[in-house]
Amino acid sequence: MKPYVFIDRPIPGEAEAHIAGHCDYSIWDRKEPVPPETLREQLSRANGLLTSGRRIDAGFLEAAPMLKAVSTISVGYNHFDTAAMKARGVIGTHTPDVLNETVADLVFALILSAARRIPELDRYVKDGLWKPADNEKLFGVDVHHASLGIIGMGRIGDAIARRAKFGFGMNVSYFNRSRRESAEREYGAVRMSLDELLRTSDFVLLMTPLTPETTRMIGRDQFRMMKESAIFINASRGPTVDEEALTEALREGWIRAAGLDVFEREPVSPDNPLLELPNVVTVPHIGSATARTRFDMAMLAARNLVLAVTGGTPPNVVPELAD
Ligand code: DGY
Repeated sequence: MKPYVFIDRPIPGEAEAHIAGHCDYSIWDRKEPVPPETLREQLSRANGLLTSGRRIDAGFLEAAPMLKAVSTISVGYNHFDTAAMKARGVIGTHTPDVLNETVADLVFALILSAARRIPELDRYVKDGLWKPADNEKLFGVDVHHASLGIIGMGRIGDAIARRAKFGFGMNVSYFNRSRRESAEREYGAVRMSLDELLRTSDFVLLMTPLTPETTRMIGRDQFRMMKESAIFINASRGPTVDEEALTEALREGWIRAAGLDVFEREPVSPDNPLLELPNVVTVPHIGSATARTRFDMAMLAARNLVLAVTGGTPPNVVPELAD
C-alpha cells in the first residue's frame, strides 16, 4: 500500500507529480488556508504532510496519529516543536542551500535601499518634489568599503559575505556559535563577540535562526551599543528583535536606518509604528521569493517528503531530528 500524504497548499505541478509518482495524496490547491475541519480529516489518516510555516507541536501531532513525516518548504523550521516531534518519532525536513544565493541578493537589496534611501527617494521623484537645490538632503551613505557584521554565519551568511567582500570591498565580521574557518580564509571574515560586532559595524545584519536563545536577542541594550550611523538589517525571523526597542532606536536616532524582511507578526499590522518611519525599508518576508528558487524549494520539499514516507533517507532532516 502506498503512503498517503496531504499537501496543505498549492505547489508547482512538477512537485505534485513527483509526490503522485510515489504516494496517494490530496492537495489543498486554493489560496485561502485549509479549513480546520478539512485539516482535521486529512490529519486523521495522513502519513506525510507537505507544508510551510504551519506550527507542528504536541497538540497537532495528537490529531495526526499516522503521521511519519512533515516536510516544510522553507529553510527556517522554528514552527517545528522538535522535542514533540522527536517524542513521537516524526521526521521533519526543510529546504536548505537552494535559497542561499537568492536570500543573499535580497539582503543586499535591503542594505543598498536603506543606505541610499531608495524607497524614500523613489517617492520623492514620483511625487514631483525633485528640486536641484535639494542636493544635500538626498545624501545617503556608502556601502562599498564599509564594515558588515553578520550575526548568524550559516550558509546564507556565507553567500552574503562573498558579495560583501568581492562585490563591495567590505570588511566582514561575524558572530556565530562555531568558528567559520572557510569564511575567515576566503572573505577575511573576523569572528567577534556580539558586543564588539555591534559596536564596530556600519551594517549590522541579523541572519540567525529563531530559537529560544535568539528570541529577542537584539533589544534596547544592543541598539544602544550600535553606532549612531549604523544600519540594521533583519532577514532572520521577526521575534529575534524587540520591535518596540527598534522603533525607539530609529525614532530617537540611536541608529540611522533599518531594512526589514521579517516582523514579529506577519503579515505586519498596518498600525505597526515601524511602518511610519521614513528610515525603515520594508519587504513582506520575501527573502527566497523568486519563481526559480521557490520552485526549487518546492521540488526539494517534495523529494524530502517522498523519501521520508517511503522509508528512504531524506538528505534534509532538520539537525535536531537527525540521528
Ligand atoms: C525560509 O525559507 O525560511 C525563508 O525565511 C524564506 O524566505
